[in-house]
Amino acid sequence: MFIEIKDIKKDFGAGDNLTRALNGVSFTMNKGEMVVLLGPSGSGKSTLLNIIGGIESADAGSVEINGEKVHGMSEKQRIIYRRNHLGYVFQSYNLIPNLTVRENVEVGAYLSKDPLGVDELLGVLGLTKHKDKIPSQLSGGQQQRTSIGRAIVKNPDLLLCDEPTGALDSENSKQILELIEKVKEKYSTSVIMVTHNENIALMADRIIRLKDGKIVKDEINAQKIKAGDLVL
Ligand SMILES: Nc1ncnc2c1ncn2[C@@H]1O[C@H](COP(=O)(O)OP(=O)(O)OP(=O)(O)O)[C@@H](O)[C@H]1O
Ligand SMILES: [Mg+2]
Repeated sequence: MFIEIKDIKKDFGAGDNLTRALNGVSFTMNKGEMVVLLGPSGSGKSTLLNIIGGIESADAGSVEINGEKVHGMSEKQRIIYRRNHLGYVFQSYNLIPNLTVRENVEVGAYLSKDPLGVDELLGVLGLTKHKDKIPSQLSGGQQQRTSIGRAIVKNPDLLLCDEPTGALDSENSKQILELIEKVKEKYSTSVIMVTHNENIALMADRIIRLKDGKIVKDEINAQKIKAGDLVL
């Protein structure tokens, strides 16, 4: 088993402002598996991803990855864990504003022991032409592709993607999803991807549905479809 998530709870605020973002979430996943987290806005998807990624801490419960307990780590250990094992595609792209596209992707490569080729990846992402622009000079889709490049270039064990195609049209979405699928297959990367889109979920090995901070369904995807054949 690669990942074990046990009874995660997370509240925000207090009293009248209390939000129970996660209310006892548990699941496990294997190395090389792709899990899609589906759920309406506010159901706790980003919060769960942030906790798995060691960016936010849970109030209760545990996350174990490759036998390492994320919650038991010091801040310093957590930074090293993120650097060595995780690729993170954020819902808001979090690009470094004064670095070019190529430099933003390179940041990911520097942090890795075994990075992919930066220029080759820029080609796959359709960013070669834009590689010397800074984020404010890019379209939303180009920014999103840059942030995906930064996460993938590390060749991480676990890729966490929060709405990776949220800002893209269907053609660009398909290309990005094919890229994620290719990385997963080539490197046995485990992937957790958040989406609102039922059609995108069909490319996953497993579909987990969240509602009000709880898992309401966790099922093997019996009708798995290649990213390139999705109807988006
Ligand atoms: N820092 C915070 N302070 C207060 N409440 C928060 C905070 N972060 C998240 N929440 C609340 O927790 C709940 C879950 O938020 P989360 O961002 O995980 O939802 P989501 O499923 O990712 O939604 P979306 O699809 O809109 O991105 C929401 O009700 C949200 O308002
Ligand atoms: Mg979210």
